[in-house]
Order: sequence, then structure tokens, then C-alpha cells
Amino acid sequence: MEKAQFQNKTSVGYADPRVDELLKHSIRTQLESLLKSKITTEQRIQLLQKSFVDAMSLVLSDTKVAHQQLVKAFESMYDQAVQSLAMAELSQDVLTRQYVSETGLIMSPHNCKHTIKDVYRIKGYARGIDKAIAAKLKNKPSVTILYPACGPFAPLLLPLLSYYKHEKRYSSEQIKVILVDVQPGAILSLQQLVQDLQLEDYVLQIEEADATKYVPNLEIDLLILEAMQHGFTKEGQLSIAKHLVQFLNIDGWMIPQNVSVRGMMVIGETEFNQQWKDVKYSHSIHVDRAAQQDRVELGEILSINKSSLLDMGEVELADGIKVIPANQIVLPTGIADMDQRILAIYAHIETFSQEVVGQYDSGITNPRPDMTFYVDAKPREVEHTHFVASSGDAVQFYYQLSGLTGFVPVKI
Ligand SMILES: C[S@@+](CC[C@H](N)C(=O)[O-])C[C@H]1O[C@@H](n2cnc3c(N)ncnc32)[C@H](O)[C@@H]1O
Repeated sequence: MEKAQFQNKTSVGYADPRVDELLKHSIRTQLESLLKSKITTEQRIQLLQKSFVDAMSLVLSDTKVAHQQLVKAFESMYDQAVQSLAMAELSQDVLTRQYVSETGLIMSPHNCKHTIKDVYRIKGYARGIDKAIAAKLKNKPSVTILYPACGPFAPLLLPLLSYYKHEKRYSSEQIKVILVDVQPGAILSLQQLVQDLQLEDYVLQIEEADATKYVPNLEIDLLILEAMQHGFTKEGQLSIAKHLVQFLNIDGWMIPQNVSVRGMMVIGETEFNQQWKDVKYSHSIHVDRAAQQDRVELGEILSINKSSLLDMGEVELADGIKVIPANQIVLPTGIADMDQRILAIYAHIETFSQEVVGQYDSGITNPRPDMTFYVDAKPREVEHTHFVASSGDAVQFYYQLSGLTGFVPVKI
């Protein structure tokens, strides 16, 4: 039976080059109009700092905060951060340049600016980072943090630093931060934002560099990284982590402490449409029990943590394409409707000490349907990108590190 094409409704579309083209003309106009707003610089800076502190107060609170209140606080943080981006006066080209490097998609500052609104991703990370900093500072006077691929707003850390400063929780003697991004526009924006937030004392360095080659000149206690998209595809999270993990102190930690990438065979309509019909927003607390039970889990395909990264072997193919071997799975037998199912790959992120970004909490943990993977079914026309297997077959997954990253299944 022919499988229907399912769009993952909840997935992010910010890397779509067509959308980028359409927006190009209006961006400068929008940013310029922000600059012309009537408030004084002091007022703008006050509002910016307040919005960052408010969002973190909510996120770190141990009492339940309503979804709408969180969304509002994060929108406000975004509105203020975008004004700092406008103040940095990036040229249209620097703002919108997006390309694929040797190790993954390099998103433009324009497309990255939205990640500061990704409430539950930032919540999972900020709460984890907060716990990790507290744990480190119990045993040493200061903690050095490296945050590569941080984008134009470094949203996993700058709001937290603003909160620490405001609450006088940790001083700049206790926390030293290095921010790294390869986009010149992200660097200009970061310089402006750090200055506007008056966080210069906490931020030791802002480096324009490729994080897969960058060599820090200090020993690192915490490596904070989020450069991934759903299905663990496109961006260079793995190459960056693999390179930078070697600069962690022997007792240094990666945040996330573990990313577990898993596969499942699903009925697309149930998983991606029916499951979300009656809920206000997608989140792991809203997944539907029946839809969950209908899944056929294949198990873990790859797990990324400090020790797995240090052990990871790399295989170089013709044309310099690099892959790493991931896990093998055996396709289950006895599933009557297997021919109608599609593969979906999703990540479960443990940032630190029980803090997580679970499935559907963020665009980056949304399961990603893979329409090229056929089990007990045949595509109408077989293309070289199609993978065709049968129930009971053993499948070895590889992870392609070069270009647009992602999983490649191979039949054993
Ligand atoms: C989606 S945004 C970053 C998101 C950010 N980490 C966050 O938490 O919101 C992606 C950023 O990573 C940067 N980036 C991607 N690959 C990189 C690399 N190899 N070296 C340095 N920066 C990189 C891009 O330039 C872009 O600014």
C-alpha cells in the first residue's frame, strides 16, 4: 500500500530557504522601524534586562507556571533581544547568509533569532545549567563555561547570567563564559547584547570561529551545546561535541549530559495529526496514550554523552565523507500493518540531573518522519535514497557527519 506523505505539523520551518527569500526584503525595514521606536536607550536597556530576569525567574521557579505566562515572558525577551540585534546594524547579507559547511547547516542570524522563544527547550537547559553551576561551585571558586554555536542571542546562558547578576546569586568572579559562533552577524549581535545586558564581566571572550576546529585557551568545566534539529539532522551538533569534548576538564561536564536518539515505526496520521487534534500546544505532557501505544519502538540508534563521544570511531568514505557507526536494530516481526508505517526518529535530551527536553517539548525533539525508509513495502519508483527492508532484517545505522548531517541505514 502506498504511504501517505505526512508533514510534521509541529516541526520548525525556520531553515526553509524559500521562506528566507520571501522575508529578505522586509527584514531591514522591520529592524529599522524598531530602531525608530520612541523609548530612550536607558529605557530600552532596562526593559531588556527585566525581560531576561523575569523569564528566568519563571523558569527556575519550583511552583507550576501557566503555559501562557511563560510564552508571554519569552515573547517579551525576544522583542527586547531583537532590538539589540537591530542596534548591531548588520548588513542584509550578514543577517541572512545561510549555508552548509563541511560539518552541517550554518543558520543565518535572522533565522536563529527565534530560538530564544523556544520556551521548554530553554527551560530544560537553563534548569540543568543552573544545577550544574551550583554543583561545580561547591567544590571550586569559579566555573569556566564554553558555549559554542550559541547564535546571535546565546539564549541558554545570557538570560541565566542576567538573573544571577540581578539576584546577586553568583558574581563574575565565579562564572567565566566563552561564546563561540562562526557567523560574523551572530558575533556582532552578541557583542551588542552582552553590552546592553551589562554582562561584560561574566563574558570573557566572544569568538568568531568554527566550533569543530576551535581550540580554547582555558580548561573548560562546562560545555553547553545545542546545535541540532529534529531527528538529529542538518546541524553539526555531533562534530562540534566530538571535537570540543577533549577540552573538558577530567571532571568537566557536557550539557546536555546525554542525548538519546531513538527510532520508531508509526502510523503518520495517528502520530502527527490525530494525537494533536485536541490539545492547545505540543508538549510531552500532552502526548496521547493511545497514540503512544500504537507506536512500534525500534530502540536507541545513538547515544551522545561525554564517554560515548570520547570513544566514537570515525569512518572516512570516498570524497572525504565522514560517518560514525551508530547502533544496530532488528526490525520487529509480526506487526500486521508494518507496510503502512513510517520511520520517525526523535531525540530525548537530558540536560543535567533530571532536567530534560522531552519529545515534543521543542522543535528539536519533535519526532522527524523519514519518508525514504520502507519496511515490507516498496516505493512506487525506487530511488537511490530509498531504503527498503523487511520485518526481521537487521539494520545498521550510520551517522553522516559531513554536509547535511543525518542517519543512513544499511541492511546487514
Ligand atoms: C540554531 S542557532 C543556535 C542555537 C543556540 N545554540 C540556541 O541555543 O538557541 C545555530 C547557530 O550555530 C552556529 N553554528 C552552527 N555550526 C557551527 C560551527 N561549526 N561553529 C560555530 N558556530 C556554528 C550558527 O552560526 C548559528 O548561529
